[in-house]
Amino acid sequence: MASEKPLVAVTCTAPVNIAVIKYWGKRDEDLILPINSSLSVTLHQDQLKTTTTAAISKDFTEDRIWLNGREEDVGQPRLQACLREIRRLARKRRSAGDEDPLPLSLSYKVHIASVNNFPTAAGLASSAAGYACLAYALARLYGVESDLSEVARRGSGSACRSLYGGFVEWQMGERADGKDSIARQVAPESHWPELRVLILVVSAEKKLMGSTAGMQTSVETSSLLRFRAESVVPARMAEMTRCVQERDFQGFGQLTMKDSNQFHATCLDTFPPISYLSDTSRRIVQLVHCFNAHHGQTKVAYTFDAGPNAVVFALDDTVPEFVAAVRQCFPPESNGDKFLKGLPVRPVPLSDELKAALDVDPTPGGVKYIIATQVGPGPQILDDRQAHLLGPDGLPKPAA
Ligand code: DP6
Repeated sequence: MASEKPLVAVTCTAPVNIAVIKYWGKRDEDLILPINSSLSVTLHQDQLKTTTTAAISKDFTEDRIWLNGREEDVGQPRLQACLREIRRLARKRRSAGDEDPLPLSLSYKVHIASVNNFPTAAGLASSAAGYACLAYALARLYGVESDLSEVARRGSGSACRSLYGGFVEWQMGERADGKDSIARQVAPESHWPELRVLILVVSAEKKLMGSTAGMQTSVETSSLLRFRAESVVPARMAEMTRCVQERDFQGFGQLTMKDSNQFHATCLDTFPPISYLSDTSRRIVQLVHCFNAHHGQTKVAYTFDAGPNAVVFALDDTVPEFVAAVRQCFPPESNGDKFLKGLPVRPVPLSDELKAALDVDPTPGGVKYIIATQVGPGPQILDDRQAHLLGPDGLPKPAA
């Protein structure tokens, strides 16, 4: 007999985050516990987001997952850890006698479909948005209301920071079981409305060395990384929190650049060395410092993760001039009209003084395109049934 509700589905979206105090290195590989705390800015989902549908039905015979329309191996250890953890929290909730919000059984299998609205290969932090979205969708599905840091973190460390909007810290914690290694909002997305984020996409190639393997080698071989985690990051976390709270762009920008540089220095101190920056990345660094020197203050700040793309912070009134400077140093090759995506940026001419001050050889095509965005909110539930990525049969809907 067909049941009334053969399938229960939830669809959520989650944001990408960019760290301004970097996470690099684990003290526990299995639980994904970091050697230092980190702090990030959540980017707006209008420009970058993951959408995930999770569904359960008594008719499903196995757990299954589709990423960007392709079925993937559901047996991956990190995915399994997330599923185990959310089911454990759901069981805990039931045994605590809470009311059951959905007519479903924990023994039912789950189908998951997830898509990004940005190219996965662009080297942007898709795993953070992806696992945060998965954790959020599963929590809704199972009626779990507790902290989801552990569920997301077991997928990818940086994912726990994508569970909140605005400015977010991931406290490293001290406990061996990781219960105190959690993400927490430092300030909401409305806190600093003038702050803008420009993603300078340098290369869409797949990165050479993934974060997981890279940081493992760094922990094993870099004494600079150990020094950083123990003696540098604690004070930087406090200072960055102050800069955010006081909306001190000079302080925020300088510390963001220093921390990115120190992270890349630990990569070079790793043996064999790891190098994520390209010649274009280094030219962007030079451009930012020339731009700031010309203005006599920190107007723009870069940060780089485990890849060559730059993420640049600036206040809204600086963006048009900085974008003009990027165009000057990296003349768009063929896509002049598609060079700028996301938030609109008013075109302005570069002053002759700034042109002369930009001591960077023009590299045509070095920057493929720019995504202009801002600080944004945390994960969202999509109530519209049309938004589900899985059809009533539990299989991905054909892409529209
Ligand atoms: C350079 O979170 O991708 O982006 O925990 O092994 O999945 P795993 O690593 P991941 O590392 C991100 C490193 C970083 C810095 C940061 O986001 O803090």
